[in-house]
Amino acid sequence: MAEPAGLPRENGRTLGASEAAGWASALLEEAVRLDREGRIAEAGDRYHAIIGAVATHGPALAEALRRMGVIHHRRNEPAIARDLCARSFEVASSLPDDRLAAEALNALAGFEMETGALERAGEIYRRALTLGRTSAEVRGRIEQNLGILANIQGNHGDALGHYERALEACRLAGDERGCAYAYHNLGMISADLKQWDKAEEYFRKSLHLAELLHDVRLHGLCLLNRAEVHLALQQYEHARRSAEEALAIFNELNAQLAKADAYKMLGMIFRETGRPALAESRLRTAIELAIATGALLSEAEATRELALLCQSMGRNQDALALLSTSYRLFGQLHAQVDQVDVASKVEELETTYLAVVRDWGQSIESADSYTHGHCERVATYALAVASELNLDEVDRTTIRIGAYLHDLGKVKVPHEILNKTAPLSPEEFEVIKLHPAWGLDLLSGIDLPWDIKPIIRSHHERCDGTGYPDGLQGNEIPLAAQLICVVDVYDALTTTRSYRPAMTKAEALVTMEDCRHWWRPDVFQAFLRAIGTVPTHISRAS
Ligand SMILES: [Fe+2]
Ligand SMILES: [Fe+2]
Repeated sequence: MAEPAGLPRENGRTLGASEAAGWASALLEEAVRLDREGRIAEAGDRYHAIIGAVATHGPALAEALRRMGVIHHRRNEPAIARDLCARSFEVASSLPDDRLAAEALNALAGFEMETGALERAGEIYRRALTLGRTSAEVRGRIEQNLGILANIQGNHGDALGHYERALEACRLAGDERGCAYAYHNLGMISADLKQWDKAEEYFRKSLHLAELLHDVRLHGLCLLNRAEVHLALQQYEHARRSAEEALAIFNELNAQLAKADAYKMLGMIFRETGRPALAESRLRTAIELAIATGALLSEAEATRELALLCQSMGRNQDALALLSTSYRLFGQLHAQVDQVDVASKVEELETTYLAVVRDWGQSIESADSYTHGHCERVATYALAVASELNLDEVDRTTIRIGAYLHDLGKVKVPHEILNKTAPLSPEEFEVIKLHPAWGLDLLSGIDLPWDIKPIIRSHHERCDGTGYPDGLQGNEIPLAAQLICVVDVYDALTTTRSYRPAMTKAEALVTMEDCRHWWRPDVFQAFLRAIGTVPTHISRAS
């Protein structure tokens, strides 16, 4: 009978099939040990020997194929990685060995997840779970991964269930490392759900196991994530100690990205405890480290935290510049991987953005007490007009931000001119006319995600060319600027000014009718329709 091709030879004699199986499983054991010790090249040689030599289908072959696939995946060779794991699945299925088939699918699903193909990853994980249901160890690993997947998709409840089942399976299998990771992930999800006491308990358990297992990296991660819990509970001293301990560990491991996150946490703690200079220094280090490792998410998050620090210090210009950068980074991340949790972070950031912009807008109003609430009202009216014109979400956000900041340049107008009760002299009016350009000066160097500069520059332009600063006519004026212009005039008329009392809505509309040629007909018509739908909260300075 012909011998199976490719069997190893020993002392000039080709090994029989059962001897070959023994040889392969011994070699596999050695390779797995080397792999765990980080001696990847040596492990790879042994996996290769098994893959090349054993022509018969055996469990060692299925396992060597999968493990080699994972090595190629780590080397960023996705096609080879996928091919090897797919072969591993075929070999395991033909044996049949459901546990090994499940492990192969688990690896393949992981590759899909990393490329952002989340639906596909979910399908493969579920198939793997069915095949691997009889092995608690495999089940534990797959449930853990399904939890990570659900978390990425923003399904916190599902993630929690998967992690709980992962923990149960790992306990059953006596897999302490699996339990340590399950506790860690349960801590993370509890923190996301703001269940701080539970989170603290899970991190404590994970930390305990990490110490027993000498898993230094996990130890550091638990400390860092615990610091977040302490911070949320305003236990600042605990938070600081945990974060500093984590930083020391990551430093020892030379784990740059984890260090960036530890620096970010320290920056947040110093910010919350009123030490802004230290906070800024730590957050800037976090940003530098994140940039050096190419970690977009960490960079985006640290930049956002620094923006919040600047906002708390009243440095609105810096806050807005940093928020713009963070917003762009989150956008890039979202384009790379369509993750729901990134989408929700972008949404959160938009809210922060609007808060900063509104703050800044309102700080301008305090320089001109007669216009208190002007920006907020202009924003409300402008959004109503935007709806009448069926503008899309991006335009609506642009208009809202533009409304808050349209008069930014007024901070540079002298107080006595801004609050003058008598009519302005021509010279004084010339000063007022500079506020659009001054507004742009304040935003120069800030790369805003929304195109609000045309609004700031042109919100006093009129269709008949009598406006300022450029005397634009008709459609030369950007639509958004026209829109702000019309609601700006309406709000000016319906509120008390230093030089006259407020008009009623009807009086204001009659006055505006007389100068309707200032605005594009479609904009003015939309304004008339909109103004009937918005409640007019007129604040009168008495
Ligand atoms: Fe203005
Ligand atoms: Fe205004």
